[in-house]
Amino acid sequence: MNLKDYITVVEDWPSEGIKFKDITTLMDNGTAFKYAVDQIVEYANEKEIDLVVGPEARGFIIGCPVSYSMEVGFAPVRKEGKLPRETIKVDYGLEYGEDVLTIHKDAIKPGQRVLITDDLLATGGTIEATINLVEQLGGKVVGCAFLIELTYLHGRDKLDGYDVLTLMQY
Ligand code: PRP
Repeated sequence: MNLKDYITVVEDWPSEGIKFKDITTLMDNGTAFKYAVDQIVEYANEKEIDLVVGPEARGFIIGCPVSYSMEVGFAPVRKEGKLPRETIKVDYGLEYGEDVLTIHKDAIKPGQRVLITDDLLATGGTIEATINLVEQLGGKVVGCAFLIELTYLHGRDKLDGYDVLTLMQY
């Protein structure tokens, strides 16, 4: 299956010159969505994962079916002010600005083997911040899996030493 057939490239969104990769047309096709999730599960199966961690909001869409399939937990990484209990935080650079990401302080136990999931690897700022949060809590990032990699933004340069899977490259 060629997963790119299910991605819609939206010209000039959210701003002029950006070719936005819309994954909703992949998600609303059950066969394509399952195929993509299964690829990530297959990758993660060899890694003895204890927990899946995904950043808001599209990291949830990919990470939750992976965690369900692997029968491991899922911990959400959220923007500031969204999680109700004690959190730790990190500042990070976005493709279009700056923000703060948080995770519950008790979401990861030291030594747990973590798979991080997201829809897109662009500049790598979000994954770098998510790795920072996992490692602050003593988790070991054993894999990072994405649907899409924008290779021209060189996000992979921030992931030296980490194991990375991307299902589609642009
Ligand atoms: C998008 C995308 C990734 C991130 C990738 O999320 O879903 O999480 O940007 O970009 P980066 O590699 O340059 O950090 P966004 O921040 O737009 O949040 P959302 O999913 O909540 O819309």
